[in-house]
Amino acid sequence: MLTWSEQFATGSPLVDTQHRMLIEKINELEKMLAGSAPSKSACDDLLNFLGSYVVTHFKFEEQCMVRYQCPAHEQNKQAHAAFLGVFAKFKERYLAEGPKPELLRSLQTTASDWIKNHILSVDIKLKSCTTS
Ligand SMILES: [Fe+2]
Repeated sequence: MLTWSEQFATGSPLVDTQHRMLIEKINELEKMLAGSAPSKSACDDLLNFLGSYVVTHFKFEEQCMVRYQCPAHEQNKQAHAAFLGVFAKFKERYLAEGPKPELLRSLQTTASDWIKNHILSVDIKLKSCTTS
């Protein structure tokens, strides 16, 4: 399980709140996978939520970086686009194969590793821009 901590702080309380929500949803997927085979409707709901929330969050965060003239803006935009590409490929497989545990497990570990590394290497660069 991933836990939000101060090292993830970006200087924007709203961005942080959105990161907490993303982490919570990724953890929810992990919990679902730890139990008995998750139902298709529960997976559909979670993946639809995650898919749309991530788009809303990326847009909001990118606007935030523009507003604060953060030098990481371009790098952030590219990383977001790459993640959306990975998610779209996963979604295609999910639609074709259904809620296979190994498929969901690979999304869960990919998303969990990605968000942790992305926040710590890119998003936190916003911090010095919001405080200067
Ligand atoms: Fe980001």
